[in-house]
Amino acid sequence: MSKLSGKTAVITGGTSGIGFATAQLFLKEGAKVIITGRNPQAVEEAVINLGTGAHGIVSDTANMAHVNELPERIKAISTKVDVLFVNAGVGLFAPFEQTDEALFDANLDINFKGAFFTVQKLLPLLPDGASVILNTTILVHSGLATASAYSASKGALLSLGKTLAIELAERKIRVNCIAPGPITTPLYGKMGMPEDALNEFAAGVQAKVPLKTFGQPEHIAQTALFLASSDSAYVTGAEISVDGGKSMAF
Ligand SMILES: NC(=O)c1ccc[n+]([C@@H]2O[C@H](COP(=O)([O-])OP(=O)(O)OC[C@H]3O[C@@H](n4cnc5c(N)ncnc54)[C@H](OP(=O)(O)O)[C@@H]3O)[C@@H](O)[C@H]2O)c1
Repeated sequence: MSKLSGKTAVITGGTSGIGFATAQLFLKEGAKVIITGRNPQAVEEAVINLGTGAHGIVSDTANMAHVNELPERIKAISTKVDVLFVNAGVGLFAPFEQTDEALFDANLDINFKGAFFTVQKLLPLLPDGASVILNTTILVHSGLATASAYSASKGALLSLGKTLAIELAERKIRVNCIAPGPITTPLYGKMGMPEDALNEFAAGVQAKVPLKTFGQPEHIAQTALFLASSDSAYVTGAEISVDGGKSMAF
């Protein structure tokens, strides 16, 4: 029996990287999957590549009008959302003194404000016993120069996960966080770093990972499947690091 048969999963930011890999795995496990993304062409291509059972909605997490209308658009596809993977996010880095309001807002609006209201607006569609998964980062627990706005946005998301785990427990809705370490996805190419600097940065990060390699999106997808399914029936308010040991290494 597939782990998610009969379930509907919504994955925000499902057009690439971790979200796309998770959509692939959830479909394989029998779920109906609805992905979101802000780029219409990327959403269309992702849905075609995902195949049967996949649906796409063009929706910008940073746009409150889009977030407000998301429940109605989902209702045209499914009457319920059993699994909500709040994954859409950006990693926009800059030295603290050069972090202007636009960079601050982009990180916070997408990674935290959008995530906050996505869960709030979709809550009426979540049946009792649903699973909410928030994609944070291991950087919440350590300092990385240039990551002040990004890390703070994810720290706020981790905090939200803990509060919601308590508030929603009455309805047996479980809320958990996945904290990825360095995962090979297109995210890094969107940071605005020149290729040489990016390669140097990646090599430096990899050297500090005990398992000496970047993780793959599928590693996060497998963890999301655990949290989405009844395998994790007694897990709520947790944060699972998937990081090759990076967050505990001295
Ligand atoms: N890769 C890592 O090492 C790593 C580590 C820790 C945490 N994470 C977290 O993992 C999540 C997924 O990132 P990824 O690494 O898989 O990167 P990715 O390949 O760039 O995927 C990010 C996804 O989010 C979507 N997205 C971005 N802004 C959006 C918005 N305003 N509205 C709707 N969708 C939006 C992107 O689509 P469009 O841009 O096309 O709209 C894309 O589908 C992020 O929250 C990230 O912070 C990643």
